[in-house]
Amino acid sequence: MRAMAERLGHDPELWGIAGLLHDLDYEETKDQPSQHGLKTEEILKEKGVNPEVIEAIKAHNAEALGIQRKTDLDIAITCSECITGMVVATALVYPDKKISSVKASSIIKRMKQKEFARNVNRDLIRKCEEIHVPLEEFAELSLKAMGRISDQLGL
Ligand SMILES: [Fe+2]
Repeated sequence: MRAMAERLGHDPELWGIAGLLHDLDYEETKDQPSQHGLKTEEILKEKGVNPEVIEAIKAHNAEALGIQRKTDLDIAITCSECITGMVVATALVYPDKKISSVKASSIIKRMKQKEFARNVNRDLIRKCEEIHVPLEEFAELSLKAMGRISDQLGL
């Protein structure tokens, strides 16, 4: 999210926080997708968190909540969540299981294989194009950003 903010001229701190908090209510709502994001909204509103962040957190679950994605941040959080899943799944098929072994072109190739990481929504990844980041570049940017924290990710 920070890398996307930098790429698009937005605030990396704000976008980073949105990414960090987006699944805050995951444990509570994992069996109720239509609530995912709404519990987080309650918690963060009370804490006075920036409304843009709260809206984006709901937007990452827009389909289940029946809402529209409006801002760059709404779209970025959605496509970023999904591509990170694809990056992790792709890294795990390499013998060393390292992000540094993965190429952007491998991510794109894997996206075309329906059965590979089938829970990762490809249409949501492609939303990067709606904020004018071509898919290839988005894959590259995501790999680089995740590569910088590969130790923390254990990949
Ligand atoms: Fe989520």
